[in-house]
Amino acid sequence: MSSRAELTSWKALSKSAEAVKSVHLKTLFEQDGTRFEKFSSQMPGVLFDYSKQLITSEVKSQLIQLAEESKIDAWRDRMFRGDKINFTEDRAVLHVALRNRKSSPILVDGVNVTEQVNQELSKLKQFSEQVRSGAWLGYTGKAVKDVVAIGVGGSNLGPQMITEALKSYADKTLNMHYVSNVDGVQLAHALEGLDPETTLFVISSKTFTTSETMTNARSSVEWFLASAKDRSAIAKHFVAVSTNLDKTRAFGIADENVFTMWDWVGGRFSLWSAIGLPIALYLGFDAFSEVLEGAFEVDEHFKNTEYENNIPLLMALLSVWNTSFLGHKAQAILPYDQALHMLPAYLQQGEMESNGKSVSFDGNTVPYTTVPLIWGMTGINGQHAFYQYLHQGNTIVPADFIASIEPQVKVGNHHDILMSNFFAQTEAMMAGVDAKAVTADLTAKGKSEKEIEALIAHKIHQGNRPTSSFILDKVDAKGVGRLVALYEHKIFCQGILLEICSFDQWGVELGKGLASNIEKELSDDHSVNSHDSSTSGLIAYYKSRR
Ligand code: F6P
Repeated sequence: MSSRAELTSWKALSKSAEAVKSVHLKTLFEQDGTRFEKFSSQMPGVLFDYSKQLITSEVKSQLIQLAEESKIDAWRDRMFRGDKINFTEDRAVLHVALRNRKSSPILVDGVNVTEQVNQELSKLKQFSEQVRSGAWLGYTGKAVKDVVAIGVGGSNLGPQMITEALKSYADKTLNMHYVSNVDGVQLAHALEGLDPETTLFVISSKTFTTSETMTNARSSVEWFLASAKDRSAIAKHFVAVSTNLDKTRAFGIADENVFTMWDWVGGRFSLWSAIGLPIALYLGFDAFSEVLEGAFEVDEHFKNTEYENNIPLLMALLSVWNTSFLGHKAQAILPYDQALHMLPAYLQQGEMESNGKSVSFDGNTVPYTTVPLIWGMTGINGQHAFYQYLHQGNTIVPADFIASIEPQVKVGNHHDILMSNFFAQTEAMMAGVDAKAVTADLTAKGKSEKEIEALIAHKIHQGNRPTSSFILDKVDAKGVGRLVALYEHKIFCQGILLEICSFDQWGVELGKGLASNIEKELSDDHSVNSHDSSTSGLIAYYKSRR
């Protein structure tokens, strides 16, 4: 039995969860006109409104007590100090060291990692400026025009999501292409029309063993050598981001062209490291530094703000409340800002790879649901796709709504139209539409009593669907850095509250091992009987028809 479920706060929250099941959010708003003031917090550049979550002041106090009893502050200090809190892999968890703008020393095994980080940042700055200014020349003396960034998971999602978020600010010095899928169609499309003489490849892989990335990297070398002919030309066109120098060397990348990271940076928390090189190349090093600044501001907020107003902690507590106590098994991420269109995909890895687990620190199976299924897309597109389910489906999906005050690009009154949808949706999800309102509406439209009777059940919206709203000043480099760091610390707190080790990913490792065995079995036409009948049957079907 997990110790969390034994806590006084946990037991109190279980009782409260039963009690609030008969409460409607609309009633809570009718009874208390100060919910917004009570249940919203701010930090520079961010407003977080959680008043449309199904909580009362009593529930909030119990949640804060859960944070206290879970010793969030002690765990937070241990993370920032560099303790090896990733205990299943015996590693520190120090993505915060990557944006430690104060440059205060942080020691891991007696080594000041802040110095290492700053050195690597200088190297990143120098290299990105050389490439962007045209000083870095390819094998025929031409400057780089296109960058192909190859990597998957944490070695792709962060840089690509940030690149997409900030592309309104790009000066178009370089074209950026991302390749993550081993499906050859993605690499083929990325390389279409590119000139090997002016193309730079960034191979990002912490381990430099990930099969999909290495396959894409090898095929890129082949494509390049088909023109360059001479292997010595690789040095001007392939750089790597990795912790594994042996493997980068074996691949043929010169040591000086390898940007390092460290085992205390988890893949899904690595965009702040040299993994962010594509961001610096595409937007310039200054923009990359601004992303780090934004995240650093959130680190300071997380460290120094009391629990009651600590935004990432509140985000985590609300997630635990919705999932482990109220039983909602999914959560939607709905950005009302086109720039954030990749955020749901990014957060899927962030939250689900971190906390999609079922045993507590001591290895016992936890008696509660841990994290929800994270999904979503830009709000407006979602409205015309799956919001029907959010409004009237018989499963409740709590959602995060994210918008910004200032649009990246002003076009007529588009932004006010976008924002009116943002406001309308959370209001509708909270309040719903009852029988009385439906009847009044249909009567006003001249419908008969009989017609109203036939329609009424279909038109009722139960409401009572919990949402949180984030309003950012703007999605600029600092703004996106802040947003991502808020979610990172939410994920950290969620792990502590649920007693989940957030920093390993054994579930993903399992699939990797199995696929590599099957890859060998596909290398000839012999029949394969080593699996269950379904898997062997599927392999046989494929092999006989390929
Ligand atoms: O998806 C599993 C994973 O191990 C992620 O945690 C990681 O971000 C990704 O693979 C890529 O790993 P690497 O950077 O070592 O290629």
